[in-house]
Amino acid sequence: MSQKLQEAREYEKKVSREIPRGQRPSFHVTSLVGWANDPNGFSEFQGKYHLFYQYHPYSVQWGPMHWGHYQTQDFVKWEALPCAIAPDTVYDQEGCFSGSAVEWQGKHYLMYTGVRKDEVTGEIRQAQCVAVGDGVEYEKLAGNPVISGEALPAGSSLEDFRDPKIWREGDLFYAVVGSRSDDTSGQIGLFVSKDVEHWEFVTILDRCRNEYGKMWECPDFFQLDGKGVLLTSPQDMVAEGLEFHNGNGTICLIGSYDGENHRFIRESVAAIDYGMDFYAPQTLETSDGRRIMIGWLQSWDNNMTPPGYQWSGMMTLPRELHVREGKLIQTPVKEIENYYTSTVSYDCQASENFQRLEGIQGRVFDMTVELEKETCGNLEIRVAAGERFYTQLLYKRDANQFITDRTYSGLCRDYLSSRAMELPEEPGKLKLRVLMDRYSLEVFLNDGEKAMTSLVFGSPEGEEIYFKADGPFQVEFHEIQRDINGEVSL
Ligand code: FRU
Repeated sequence: MSQKLQEAREYEKKVSREIPRGQRPSFHVTSLVGWANDPNGFSEFQGKYHLFYQYHPYSVQWGPMHWGHYQTQDFVKWEALPCAIAPDTVYDQEGCFSGSAVEWQGKHYLMYTGVRKDEVTGEIRQAQCVAVGDGVEYEKLAGNPVISGEALPAGSSLEDFRDPKIWREGDLFYAVVGSRSDDTSGQIGLFVSKDVEHWEFVTILDRCRNEYGKMWECPDFFQLDGKGVLLTSPQDMVAEGLEFHNGNGTICLIGSYDGENHRFIRESVAAIDYGMDFYAPQTLETSDGRRIMIGWLQSWDNNMTPPGYQWSGMMTLPRELHVREGKLIQTPVKEIENYYTSTVSYDCQASENFQRLEGIQGRVFDMTVELEKETCGNLEIRVAAGERFYTQLLYKRDANQFITDRTYSGLCRDYLSSRAMELPEEPGKLKLRVLMDRYSLEVFLNDGEKAMTSLVFGSPEGEEIYFKADGPFQVEFHEIQRDINGEVSL
């Protein structure tokens, strides 16, 4: 084992034990210690689901990237494993960037981006590398890097070439990798291999053409419900209505895919998530055939980790995906239901004042609110409410919007504190499912038609929930077990 990896392992072991019980969210997985960004290597291996992540153990800021490591059997309770890889070779000395994993012949293959600085020119070079292991210990291949930027079409960037997502199809392996084309904006290259080590360029699956941001990071590609689905996280997006916001975003391109000729024909482009904190999602397919996605529950523009915390960065609750009427549908994994500790439901009437409902409180819950647009035009829910601070969830029929607003959650440096999403035009029922886990809110509209994910790092004391509406609505509230992952450590 390299000295760098050994140091990281010793450090995380020591510091993870110092993190107070009850400080982490309950059912969301967090960095073990230090900083976490993108989920990596989300895969099934020997009957368990593994999740790696972009990891800088030594501080709560981004730094030289390692891969942190967890495993789970149900996507809710996570077991920490030691740091899997460290930036300890010439070809990844600047970082082991994002990537993915696949099981083959009883071994676990991690495919990641090695970043290095050219000795002569000082230019950054990104190339794809592989490490193979048994679920805990991984060894980097002697033949690394396995794909370098020269494999891309002429004019492509050699500096931005990263985040391979690998999958298996019969006897072959495929990988999609993000890069920039000669127009300087994103493109997704498709590569093929027989052995995970030797790769050939196949085609460019899709290109940004300067329409959706610039560099396309963290691609994923799969077929689902008869459609080809390409997910990517573009940098430098420019706002368009309520569909896309400024900065780093996430998009889902749905189209037809002719697997024989590797032709993807895009039919639609939409945001994957409309909240303030969602990036770099990655999927796996479970042995029971579910396509499950997990994302980084944070954004590059806001690090709101409270002072004194020794961990920073968490992942979303994994979501089951489908394609329905050309749209990506996302619903929380069903396994969360195994952790409900109590359930109450109410039929509520309009009220001019904020009302509390008995049994509905706390910051670890799964709540569904339903209303008819014809009879209820405004609804405000205040969650995480204490004496002074609260976070608002707002439905406004006239604006046809749903809003998450954390302006009054008590965080003085939270400069971006509210985001709105458009609701369907049609009259009828509106269903909002809200999962809160201490520091985060994940909202799912109409059984997963849209998702809205945001951090709520403001005042941790607030546990009350209030409702105010100008018409009738129904609430079903499940309290979820606290501290499910309260004690992850090594
Ligand atoms: C996305 C990203 C990836 C890169 C990683 C580095 O959030 O920028 O493109 O591999 O983070 O940590």
